[in-house]
Amino acid sequence: MSRRALTFVCQNCGAAYGRWQGKCEACGEWNTLVEEGDSAAARIAGPGRPPRKGRKFALEPLTGQTHDAPRQPSGVAELDRVTGGGFVRGSVLLLGGDPGIGKSTLLLQAAAALGRTGHRSAYISGEEAVAQVRLRAERLGLRDAPVELAAETSVEDIIATLAEGPTPRLIIIDSIQTMWTDAIEAAPGTVTQVRGSAQALIRFAKRSGAAVILVGHVTKDGQIAGPRVVEHMVDAVLSFEGEGSQHFRILRSMKNRFGPTDEIGVFEMTGLGLREVSNPSELFLSERDLGSPGTAVFAGIEGTRPVLVELQALVAPTSLGTPRRAVVGWDPSRLSMVLAVLEAHCGVKLSGHDVYLNVAGGLRIQEPAADLAAAAALVSSLVNAPLPADAVYFGEISLSGAIRPVAQTSARLKEAAKLGFGRAVLPESARGEAGSDSGLSLNPVGGLTSLVAEIAARGTPRGNRDNSAAEKNATPARFRRQEG
Ligand code: TYD
Ligand code: MG
Repeated sequence: MSRRALTFVCQNCGAAYGRWQGKCEACGEWNTLVEEGDSAAARIAGPGRPPRKGRKFALEPLTGQTHDAPRQPSGVAELDRVTGGGFVRGSVLLLGGDPGIGKSTLLLQAAAALGRTGHRSAYISGEEAVAQVRLRAERLGLRDAPVELAAETSVEDIIATLAEGPTPRLIIIDSIQTMWTDAIEAAPGTVTQVRGSAQALIRFAKRSGAAVILVGHVTKDGQIAGPRVVEHMVDAVLSFEGEGSQHFRILRSMKNRFGPTDEIGVFEMTGLGLREVSNPSELFLSERDLGSPGTAVFAGIEGTRPVLVELQALVAPTSLGTPRRAVVGWDPSRLSMVLAVLEAHCGVKLSGHDVYLNVAGGLRIQEPAADLAAAAALVSSLVNAPLPADAVYFGEISLSGAIRPVAQTSARLKEAAKLGFGRAVLPESARGEAGSDSGLSLNPVGGLTSLVAEIAARGTPRGNRDNSAAEKNATPARFRRQEG
């Protein structure tokens, strides 16, 4: 009798255990361990079936003809920008995002745009009835677009249907969580089913050359629900993000085997579906409240594109023992670092203040180049002094308080000039790269101390003057003392 090697594999993260337990210690999920391995495999293959002998295949040398991955542009330029120029034939892409963010809308628009170029495109909805999808198409003005529509959830049926006739260029599966395959005996929606269905669809994509997009739901903590392994199985993972209350939607690439991962696509949700925003800076700056303290415009780069965005800070005396630090759209540890440098090198005492930092428009910034803009906004709020409305800021702050240069100075300046800004506060060492023809007046800063002193010189401290030592800490005089 053969030895049965039992393995229990977490369907969320893939960790393997010798025995069953309720909680996966690797990822902390409950009830995700499922028996896999020899005995489970034998059950799938069927009892008594002899093991298949391997088939020989031809090996190829690494040197040889290379072909660019054949791509199919979707016709939605912002989507193509994020995928790296269109969908690669035979590839599978996972699109994640909060419910109601606009995934179905985006993909229906993409399917229609592709259908209108004369290619076969199919939209399979596992969540909505055909009539509902039609209703949405009508609202989007896409009623006459040649898209093949179905409300189906059986992967085998879907594959059998789509394998007939010319291969579709684009197949949309909305969503992978609603799909189920006969090959697996588990209820639809379980991680095992999601993984099995994804596997079957990926095999079909590779075999047929169709580009497949799987819609994936996102859990409360922002991860694509179901097995994380699906993210490893697909060729690209995109996430569609945005604040529910705002109209901006940002499409971001988290993984892409065939293209860049740092590009973003920007959309605006309107009554007539998603509108592409080809100049995001205008959108992010459209609702600026000019002249209020605590806001600074950051000249950033997203992928290959310069994007100007407003950083908003609020620094207020705290009533708590441990002051609050809250940040939306930026890395909290970078905020801590900027606060520490302000405290250590510039004499800005923030231990008695709550600090809030927000990136306007729902954008998420990853660049360290935002340090300088964040610091300027924080100090501006602390001393209640508005920053000049026509200034942009960029530069990385080092732990010593020096301002370090960042990449693509001239692209940032050009974008700022295009949008009517008059001056740029930038690292001293970037002055050479900036040149003199940017059209902006340059205000180079070598260290954070001088920037803080400059802002503080214009301000009066916020709020009630006659109490708290913390407030006194924030007076401009204090900064000047530090300076001198
Ligand atoms: P939907 O694409 O269904 O989101 P998801 O598939 O990610 O769950 O988008 C639903 C939201 O979008 C809903 O709140 C209404 C809004 N919406 C518009 O504002 N305009 C439109 O033209 C459409 C179709 C939807
Ligand atoms: Mg949907």
